[in-house]
Formats: sequence, C-alpha cells, structure tokens
Amino acid sequence: MSNGRGGIPNEVVEEILSRSDIVSIVGQYVQFTKSSGQNQFGLCPFHSEDTPSFSVSTNKQIYYCFGCHKGGNVVNFIMEVEHLSYVEALKFLAEKVGVKVPEPDDDNYRREEYQRKRIKEVLLEAARYYYACFRSDKGREAKAYLTKRQISPQTATKFGLGYAPNEWNGLYNHLVSKKFTQNEIAKSGLFITKNGKTYDLFRGRLMFPIFNAMGELIAFGGRIIGDGQPKYVNSPESPVYSKQRNLYALNFAKSAKMKQIIVVEGYMDVISMHQAGVTNAVASLGTALTERQLDLLERYCEEVVLFYDSDRAGQNAAIRGLKMLFDRKKKHTGMTTKVRVAKVPNGKDPDEFIREFGKDKFAEVVANAMPVLDYLVESARLQSMESGSFDSVLFQQLISTYLSWEDNMILRERAANQAAQILGVSTASVMAEVGKLSVKSHTDAVIRSRKEVERQDTILPEKKIGETASPEEIVLMCLLSELKESYPAFVEKYKDKPLVTDFSMGTMRTIATEVLPILETGTLDANRLLLACENLILNRRAAKDTISEALLRVEYGKDLDELMRNTLNYLYLVRLSVYTKQKDELAKRLDAMPDGDDRVATENAFRQTLEYLQFLKRKMRKT
Ligand code: CTP
Ligand code: MN
Repeated sequence: MSNGRGGIPNEVVEEILSRSDIVSIVGQYVQFTKSSGQNQFGLCPFHSEDTPSFSVSTNKQIYYCFGCHKGGNVVNFIMEVEHLSYVEALKFLAEKVGVKVPEPDDDNYRREEYQRKRIKEVLLEAARYYYACFRSDKGREAKAYLTKRQISPQTATKFGLGYAPNEWNGLYNHLVSKKFTQNEIAKSGLFITKNGKTYDLFRGRLMFPIFNAMGELIAFGGRIIGDGQPKYVNSPESPVYSKQRNLYALNFAKSAKMKQIIVVEGYMDVISMHQAGVTNAVASLGTALTERQLDLLERYCEEVVLFYDSDRAGQNAAIRGLKMLFDRKKKHTGMTTKVRVAKVPNGKDPDEFIREFGKDKFAEVVANAMPVLDYLVESARLQSMESGSFDSVLFQQLISTYLSWEDNMILRERAANQAAQILGVSTASVMAEVGKLSVKSHTDAVIRSRKEVERQDTILPEKKIGETASPEEIVLMCLLSELKESYPAFVEKYKDKPLVTDFSMGTMRTIATEVLPILETGTLDANRLLLACENLILNRRAAKDTISEALLRVEYGKDLDELMRNTLNYLYLVRLSVYTKQKDELAKRLDAMPDGDDRVATENAFRQTLEYLQFLKRKMRKT
C-alpha cells in the first residue's frame, strides 16, 4: 500500500472519505434550513449568526461559510469542530463510518513514533529513579519539605512525586545501566551538555512528573527544596512535550468528569486542591493560558474558572488570558466554553487558601467567580488604587481598553454602567470614551456585518466566478471530476492542456504538481484538491479556505460552458505573463553580452520566446 497522510495508507484515506458523506456528517452538528440547488444552508457552527451563511455542497462534498470564511472538506470540518489534528479527524471519521485504520506503514512516521516511544520509556525510567531516591535515605530532606507543606504520602504517590538527588550523573548513570542509547538519553530533555560532557538537568529538586491528557508521562518540573533560585526548573520542549499544548493534571481532572475545570498557576496549587478533594483542577504552569490549552479545555468541560494567584503577576497572567479569549471570539474560533474568574483576597494563592480555609470556603470562592467583564472592571478598580488613593485617569484608561475588547454592545454597556458608578459619571460618557478607542474595530465590524447581510440576501453570490477566483484557481477547478468527461474533449478541442509550469511558483505550483498527474490516470475531485492544499497559504488565507470559496461559487451546470471557454484563455494569460518576463530578461542579457557562441544561443532563445508569445496572442484572439 502506498503511503498516505500521517502514516494512514492512501487507500484507507480514500475509503474513509468516500464513506463520509459531508451532508450527513455535518448534519450531525448543523441544522440545514435552506437549500439552493446542490447546496444546503444552515447556521455556522464556527461563529454566531442569525441568518444561515454556512453552506455545504452535496456534489462537491465541501463546506464554506460566507460569514466567517472557513471552508474545506469533511476532514477539515471535523478538525475544526472537534479540535482534532488531521490524522485524529480521519480516525474519528473512520470510527463513525466503520472503516478500520491499519497501523501506519510510513517509514518516517514509524521512526518518529518509535523515537517518541523510547523517549517516554526514558522518562518513565527516570520517574522510577526519582521515586526510588525519594523513598531512599537520599530523599529525607524532600520528604520533610513535603510534610512541611502538608502534602500527605498518599497525595505524593498519586502525583508520582520524586526526588532528584544533588548529583551530576545520578540519573545518567542509571539510564546507561538500563541500556538506553546516548541519542535516546539526549532527546529526553533531562540532561544538559557542557564542554562535550553530559550532566543531569535536575539536581537536588523535588520532582513533579507531567502527564498528558492520556496519562502518559511527557516531562518533569523540579522545585528547589526550600528557598533558592531558580525556584522551578522544567523540561524543555521535546518530541513528546509541548508546554503550551498541555495542562498539568488534566489527566486527573478529566476523570473527575465535571462540567467545570478550575485553572490555576502552579504545581502545588493543583496538588493541594486535589488533596482537599477539589479534583477538577489543572495548572497552566506559570504562564497565561495559551490557545492550545483553551482548545484542550473546550474538549473536556463547559466552563473554565481561572483562579490565578492574587499577586500582580498572577492577575496580569489572568488578564493576558482574557485578552486572548476576546481575540479568539473575534476570529470566530468558536469558544463556546464559559469563562469566569475567581479571586482570593490578600495576596494568597489557591494552595495557601485551601490549606488555611478548607474545601468549603474554597468552593464558595469558585461559586462566586466573576463573569469576565465584571472581573476586568474590578481589576481596573484595584489597579487604580495601588498607589494608595484612587487614580481616576488610570481607571478610565484601563476601562476603555478592557471594554473595547468586548464587541457585544449590551455586555459592554452593562460593564460601562459599573464603571460609571465607580467614577460617578453617566454610562453614556464611559461608552463614548470606550467608543473612541474601539472606533476602528467597530467600523470594521459594521462593514463586515453589512457585507454579510448583502451576501445573505442572495444566498449564493451573484459575482461571476472570474471576479472571485484567480485564473489559476479557475484552471484547477475546471479539472475537477464533475468535468472529467469533458476534460478529454476539452484537450481534444483545444489541442492544449494545463502544464505544471502554467502555475506560479509557490502554493499554486505545489498544488498543480500534486493534482495534474491525477488527471492523466484518474479523477480529480474536490477532496483530492483540498488534500493537496493542506498546510498551504493562498491569498493570505489557508489555501483550503480560498479554494473552498472558489469551488462553492462555481455552479457547474450554469457556468460550465463559460468556464470551459475561459479556461484556455486563462492558461494563455498565465503563460503570456511568464513568457513576457522571460523575453524581457533575455533582452536585458543580450544588451550586456559580447559577440560569441553564448550570444548566439541566447539570441535563439529570445527568438523562440518571441515566436511563442506571438502564437499565444493569435490563439487568444481566436478563443
Ligand atoms: N514557575 C516556573 N519557574 C519559576 C517559577 C514558577 O516554571 N521560576 C511556574 C511553576 O509551574 C509554578 C508556577 O509557575 O508552579 C507558579 O509559580 P509560583 O506561584 O511562583 O509558584 P508556586 O506554584 O506557588 O510554588 P510554591 O508554592 O512551591 O512556591
Ligand atoms: Mn505557592
């Protein structure tokens, strides 16, 4: 079998695609309320809207939203809606439609998979080593430290805590004795090299194993025992660990199967909370929340409660996370999960708070967590009081900034009302100040929504295909399977066909290189075309979005003749510009060239190019 994407054989990919009818798959997420020809319309699952602008084409097996401009095939849809990678989405569909996915036989994939497997084995062995050291005499200090922090032995075991002894080669020697190769040891991220020598990264530290959502060990964090710098050392990024894609303790929190997940900053916060029976806690490990972490959270819960340290750093991290949330909403990435922010008084962190006041008081704080905008108003107020007296100029600045993030005018006005009460002014004047800041983004939004209304009036765009797609895109579309009968006729009639070199270097050339050969032997359909678009950018958007839009705008029945006629013209236009450039270049070279053999060859090339250009122009007049 030939190699397919992510190690899934092409034959299996085809099988999955052919069994996954886009209308019935999408129909499980979207209710279709209108239809127009081969297209079904419904409310877009990726952005909020009142009039349906999300369209699925039955014959082309693609979707495109005229509101948020996302598009693609059935795999892209599942990736987007379920937050899965390409391969995960394929497997998800395979399950749905009853196709068995064999183990990947791709050599690269297998090699990488094997490397990841070995790295995880190194990490597991390291965890055993740290654990044994913790239990041994070496770990006395670490155990005492945990006791001091009121962490029970059971909790320590549950979280797999260990101790890295204060030695330069303790772990290294242990792993060598377990027959791991130098490469495997190096790739694990648990070592540093200096002057060609390898040393343990973690020395004299309390060790926190980090697991992914599936419960696989992927990294470590190490805390100094007592005071000292740096307080924490963490595993670097590795083939199995990406800090921004993971949340500490998600493996535990997800099995709590609660609708809510509490996000805190640190290892010790999570551990204390779990020990106290608050098991729906994860840690972002000292950073503001990332997009990928939010993707993860969305998969496992309906509500996120941010519970960051009440110091300045913690609050700033919370606000950065909230800003990201608003940007995400604007990009329509479909954050449907609710977010609230909890806060404890007087500079405590969740760990200290729950130890001091217990689970019930803690639950109360979580229950009283504030909606995002309320929190921002409150935070602006507190920041404006930090100097001792109320700085109303600072307050106004902060409020204008924060409220401008919110596009929903009702929510914005509600928050403006709270701010107005603090300032002792009218809501209208606060709204006006916020308006000044957000004039630009607001104008954009109005223009955007007006365009959407125009589009929705007609449902399918009135525009001629030539106005929305580039000549090159049109050439590609003319080759799709719907036209496959006409393609040989087309070639026969015009005695010409598209060549890879007709497409400009970059994305179009890459796509053409992959799809043109298919035409010689088989059929090209939208799925194949979109497969070739994977990871490419076209006209500053994901190529799959650009191409899907162009595809959806073509009505084969109506536009076919025109497309056929124009295809060749487009080809000639493309070639005209390529050969004109070539001609100019040759002319420049000739100007600077002395007589001789080289010059004769260049002159010949120049003449041939000129002749071809004249030929092209003659042909273009005819078609
Ligand atoms: N952190 C880090 N490196 C540091 C400091 C912090 O990676 N030098 C990360 C750790 O994941 C830590 C989190 O940021 O858990 C929160 O930092 P902080 O509040 O300073 O630590 P605590 O979790 O409160 O740790 P402790 O209670 O042990 O002092
Ligand atoms: Mn702490």
